Amino acid sequence: MKPSFIQPPQLLWESGAFSSTPLVQKSTCIQDLPDIFADERAWHALPADQVVYCVEMIDSSPAEGEFYTGVTHLNPGKVGNEFFMTRGHFHARREQGEVYFGLRGRGLLLLQNEAGEARLEEVFPGSVHIIPGFTAHRLINTGDEILSALAVWPGVAGHDYAALPQGFALRVVEENGEIMGKEVQNG
Ligand code: PA5
Ligand code: NI
Repeated sequence: MKPSFIQPPQLLWESGAFSSTPLVQKSTCIQDLPDIFADERAWHALPADQVVYCVEMIDSSPAEGEFYTGVTHLNPGKVGNEFFMTRGHFHARREQGEVYFGLRGRGLLLLQNEAGEARLEEVFPGSVHIIPGFTAHRLINTGDEILSALAVWPGVAGHDYAALPQGFALRVVEENGEIMGKEVQNG
């Protein structure tokens, strides 16, 4: 008997593009990110429909034991002196972790625990980021090309965007040509 070989989804590592699979896509624009960037005037000055990031996900089930697999493509850019970034979130099921893999571009992964302690990991092609449970996470593009990162997380994890009413404790900005992580007072 000749076995039949199932064709799995394929990811092009260099671009982060999926092929041969049904995808769910979501774009997040400047207008979708109020109160995220520090400089509100600079945020208002940007076109409301300017895309900050797109997420492409393999269509999967949110059931126990299943996984979501998605790629975030975060455009280069700044609001004032603050680099473009994702909204960032805790998981609704706080104990659930996630793994990120850098594919292209350069940036930072901002991680923050429930005590409000923040740290930054460098993201680059081939970087692997183990995000433990109880840890909020946000991608930041500090380069001048698209930052693409693959993420795999449990179907049951969910997103909790409301859990950081004060925002993250660190902001990443460019000052005098340097990339700086700045502590936020009452962050
Ligand atoms: O599951 C993840 O952590 C990612 O796929 C993010 O959802 C993605 O990077 C977009 O970020 P956010 O959900 O914070 O808008
Ligand atoms: Ni997540």
